Amino acid sequence: MRAQIQKVPQIVELLKKKTVGLQHFKPTSSVCVLEEKDAAEAASCPHAASRAHSLDAMPGPTNFPVFGSLVELLRKGGLRRQHEALIDYHKKFGKIFRMKLGSFESVHIGAPCLLEALYRKEGNYPQRLEIKPWKAYRDLRDEAYGLLILEGKEWQRVRSVFQQKLMKPTEVVKLDGKINEVLMDLVGRIGKINVNGRIEDLYFELNKWSFETICLVLYDKRFGLLQEEVNEEAMNFITAVKTVSGLAVILLAGTTSQFTRFTSAAQPKVYIDRKLKRNAVRAPDDLIGDILHHSSLSKKELYAAITELQIGGVETTANSMLWFIFNLSRNPGAQRKLLQEIRAVVPLDQDPCGEHLKSMPYLKACLKESMRLSPSVPFTSRTLDKDTVLGDYAIPKGTVLMINTHALGSNEEYFEDSKQFRPERWLRENSTINAFTHVPFGIGKRMCIGRRLAELQLQLAMCWLIRDFEIVATDNEPLDVIHSGLLVPKRELPVAFIRR
Ligand code: HEM
Repeated sequence: MRAQIQKVPQIVELLKKKTVGLQHFKPTSSVCVLEEKDAAEAASCPHAASRAHSLDAMPGPTNFPVFGSLVELLRKGGLRRQHEALIDYHKKFGKIFRMKLGSFESVHIGAPCLLEALYRKEGNYPQRLEIKPWKAYRDLRDEAYGLLILEGKEWQRVRSVFQQKLMKPTEVVKLDGKINEVLMDLVGRIGKINVNGRIEDLYFELNKWSFETICLVLYDKRFGLLQEEVNEEAMNFITAVKTVSGLAVILLAGTTSQFTRFTSAAQPKVYIDRKLKRNAVRAPDDLIGDILHHSSLSKKELYAAITELQIGGVETTANSMLWFIFNLSRNPGAQRKLLQEIRAVVPLDQDPCGEHLKSMPYLKACLKESMRLSPSVPFTSRTLDKDTVLGDYAIPKGTVLMINTHALGSNEEYFEDSKQFRPERWLRENSTINAFTHVPFGIGKRMCIGRRLAELQLQLAMCWLIRDFEIVATDNEPLDVIHSGLLVPKRELPVAFIRR
């Protein structure tokens, strides 16, 4: 988004010619879901496509010349508080609204019925907002694209290579041994480096943990990031990956200079080559080895795909773990219940494993609730590849839709007492929660391909932590959240780990 806003001066003239007074429109409920139906069905719908309003009629914040709603957004706290502004806008304008920031225009959706409609109309190759700087960076270095930025048939070809194994819980669960290997180091480190239970820069420690895990999964290589002495190679690698700030920057548009700093240190070619070499002499014995071995992708494509899996998987997972820890620290009752479940399922002399997780509904509910209340990625996007009717509006091809995950999860209409951490809401037998209100990993064919792996990591990590430590809140002051690509706490997390 930032990169788009930088283009403001070039489009001044264009905007001057076409400024729409969106402020005149009233909020709308926009709940009608129009499917791609035949003519007879469409005619019976009171909001049939022929009667759908044009995009110009959609409500939204005041659209001033040149800057659009940027000034208003700045008044609401700026881009760092855009997640809060989006909630306000949904309250004010309804389930769908339109906003222009400089030249960047988007339609925001925050209702399950609209998401479901979008999902059902999805074509074969859903597109996210195009991230030109990351593409330009890859082009400059004559490197291929990975899943984050590929489009069309090429995207589908690469996605299908990874999809079958990475999205299948029964395949992913086989990675529990590797995940546990790193978790043993993490809990050991927390035990060692805490000062009165407090960990200095817990977020960085969690980034090192998720980085170490994804490297072990992808390359079969330990970097030793959780050891006392971290070697230079490992430090260069993690610093380079952190420079692009992970998935958030890619999804939301980084700057070319940010990517240019993504030096050759972060190129995992050498590690992939080593893995391929090992596979050539003995059959692959893990999920990624198997994928690499059997894929029809060129080496160049493999390098790109693996690089982007790594970028997508590090900070998102660390961030979700950070919030998971925070939410349990503020909810000791839930933590006690979780500990009971863990103790009932995992024998004391065993490490938690994938098999145990099958009998741990409360743990899964706690993670879901944490990701609802504190999603790492507050929104994702889609660029419409065809004219589409959503709710009361006919939205033209090429429009960027923002899927407001955070706003959906905070909406009282879908989640009673939405500010409360209530894992039980996911366990009720007659639960009426609509699946499209909870989309922290996105939706449809283009949803996060690392979802299963991330969930396994987070669930196992919480088992290990809670078994060894009580996570306590060191204060009960509100924790300010800012948007820096991902949603992050504004201050050091007020938690301590007290050994049980
Ligand atoms: C809790 C951790 C994670 C969160 C919250 C998360 C969230 C997301 C979201 C919201 C998207 C966009 C989906 C959409 O547009 O519908 C996405 C895409 C993606 N994620 Fe994740 N992710 C996580 C972990 C991972 C991991 C562990 C990996 C790698 C193994 C990964 C790799 C990717 C990739 C490659 C994409 C692009 C997929 C495509 O376009 O085909 N993510 N993620």
